Amino acid sequence: MEEKALKILAINGSHRNDKGFTDIVLKKFLKGAESVNAECEILYPSVQKIIPCESCGKCLFETPGICKFNDDMESIISKMDNADQMVFASPVYFDSISSNMQKMIERLRPTYDAHFEFRNGKTYHLKRFKKDQKIAVISTAGNPERGTFTSLDKILNRIIDNMGGTVVGEFYFPASHLIVTCPELLSTQFNALESAGKEFALNGKIGTELLEEGNKDYVGDPKIAVEQITQSILKMREEYTMKQKR
Ligand SMILES: Cc1cc2nc3c(=O)[nH]c(=O)nc-3n(C[C@H](O)[C@H](O)[C@H](O)COP(=O)(O)O)c2cc1C
Repeated sequence: MEEKALKILAINGSHRNDKGFTDIVLKKFLKGAESVNAECEILYPSVQKIIPCESCGKCLFETPGICKFNDDMESIISKMDNADQMVFASPVYFDSISSNMQKMIERLRPTYDAHFEFRNGKTYHLKRFKKDQKIAVISTAGNPERGTFTSLDKILNRIIDNMGGTVVGEFYFPASHLIVTCPELLSTQFNALESAGKEFALNGKIGTELLEEGNKDYVGDPKIAVEQITQSILKMREEYTMKQKR
């Protein structure tokens, strides 16, 4: 009998969806997964019809598990539930995940049962759907210091834990313009990402060495990087103004 291909669903919360920096790094990871025949799909919440949760309580009390809205969320939940593994990718927006991703996550409420459980100092809703999904996290940010990922890291870890999933690895890319302007600076990280995607698909985990390589510094002194970023933005602004005048 033919073996079923592993299904990986990646969610990219960027408002720039497949035109952004996050997508470039996400696709390197998925390339590795696809090289061992995983079936990968990227879902962009920014182009899905997702009505914001109104906290009406219907999915908990009146029609358990069913939301009153008829939009793309039913198909998103079904894709999440059918995926063997997932990737959560989001740029850092105001120290958090993107609002498109947050809006999608809030609509996962119907996937939770009304029952609560208190374990290891934390309250959980019991889940109706898939449990124990292995999830990789990828993010990009404009600021050059790694500390810029601190709150997104905490937020996504909490969200994934609430979902009953397990974070198996995280890859963070600061000073994200370098992904496009100086890709040669990131060749080690990009290679590690691809190998990590392969390992993720094969074993559902990512080794420490690949995590270290993928997160290896390529920015240098953040103080100098900030000055360079400022100068390049000022230059772009000047070029734009000149163009307008012409
Ligand atoms: C609304 C908004 C808020 C942002 N906030 C932050 C921030 O708090 N920290 C940071 O380092 N970068 C911030 N950035 C920069 C993005 O994180 C960065 O450009 C990222 O790589 C964009 O990814 P994308 O091209 O996939 O959309 C922000 C960008 C936008 C549009």
